[in-house]
Amino acid sequence: MSYQVMMVFGTRPEAIKMAPLARVLRHWPGIELNICSTGQHREMLKQVLDSFELSVDQDLKVMTRGQTLNGLSEQLLIHLDKAYEQIKPDIVLVHGDTTTSFIAALAAFNRHLPIGHVEAGLRTGNLRSPWPEEANRRLTGVIADLHFTPTTKGEANLLREGVPKASIEITGNTVIDALLWMRTHQQDIHWHPAPDSPLAVLDDNRRMVLITGHRRESFGGGFRNICLALADLALRYPDVQFVYPVHLNPHVQTAVYGVLSDKPNIYLVAPQDYQHFVWLMGRAHFILTDSGGVQEEAPAIGKPVLVLRNVTERPSVLEAGTVLLVGTDTERIVKESSQLLDDPAHFKHMSRVHSPYGDGHASERIATRLCAWLSKRSAAGRAV
Ligand code: UD1
Ligand code: UDP
Repeated sequence: MSYQVMMVFGTRPEAIKMAPLARVLRHWPGIELNICSTGQHREMLKQVLDSFELSVDQDLKVMTRGQTLNGLSEQLLIHLDKAYEQIKPDIVLVHGDTTTSFIAALAAFNRHLPIGHVEAGLRTGNLRSPWPEEANRRLTGVIADLHFTPTTKGEANLLREGVPKASIEITGNTVIDALLWMRTHQQDIHWHPAPDSPLAVLDDNRRMVLITGHRRESFGGGFRNICLALADLALRYPDVQFVYPVHLNPHVQTAVYGVLSDKPNIYLVAPQDYQHFVWLMGRAHFILTDSGGVQEEAPAIGKPVLVLRNVTERPSVLEAGTVLLVGTDTERIVKESSQLLDDPAHFKHMSRVHSPYGDGHASERIATRLCAWLSKRSAAGRAV
């Protein structure tokens, strides 16, 4: 007997974090995996699929330039409903907190399909930050049947909201599976960016600061403040190279290129595929980011992170003191970055390796629990 597991993702981080699980499930006895990309992202998703040599079974191709949340949600509901009708999965796996995650869960719920939520239980407690992700994650949690949460804190959040303990599995985060896999692979083959990569111009003898930023709640003033801080830092530290792979969201592109395009030591580059981005993280002195995934990855390889947000749903990384919330205030960003560049003791303190979000084996734990759940359900006569 085999179970039809349908995995749905649509954006870059979902794909990176589902890729290791897909690799495991593809070879797991008793599982038939069907991968559905909603195509909420296009180029940035293709980069991930190529990096992990992953092919999808359906591509719903919903992305439009400058899409609105409601326009996107409408398209997702229509196309996912048809995909579920066609595949008739025994369970739908969704990931995290994007519009794809929640709408894929909602469409499954409306068809009485069981839902497994990967990276469940993270919370800031603030519905406006990250927006709309905190709501997406909570809403998905309300209708999911199985909750794969990275940490005991995630489990505690779910229990507090009334989720039955028996439906929760603490697994670690699959992003660490992805990161360790890529690092090992790169070390094995002595991987380096190709000579025609925009990263090949970076000088190995000069320090490099890596930047990413794309959060909707920072559009407008917050983003401008971040860019002004980067411009100021680039002037104060002419020997430091500031590398910013700029997210394709048109709001981000306009803000970043508008303020930072003419600075000699700021390198604005296209979003990087996972090979190149992991290489950049390894090469960075420290990282300025508002990304969720990077907050989990960077500490695992001992890179200090200044988080361009006021709250995080990943508090475990703050405890060791290697990740610091700095928000979007220009002066604060400049001050904390300067301390990391000027104070070797402070830099050393923030450079300790620790990985509260995983040990590289989250995918196997998820697969094991998933199979046990499907068998139990089947034995109870409710599926397959
Ligand atoms: C989305 C997620 C966010 C996640 C982020 C990861 C929602 C509401 N937001 O935000 O949670 O952290 O992805 O990156 O689900 N675009 C392209 N090509 C691409 C990707 C995006 O051109 O490959 C442009 C398009 O114009 C698109 C726009 O970016 O309309 C916004 O994409 P969208 O997925 O709606 O939002 P993100 O800001 O990427
Ligand atoms: N990432 C990447 N290329 C880039 C920037 C980020 O591959 O140019 C990876 C990064 O390692 C992390 C993930 O993308 O695993 C984070 O995605 P993003 O910042 O888009 O979303 P978030 O984590 O904020 O949801």
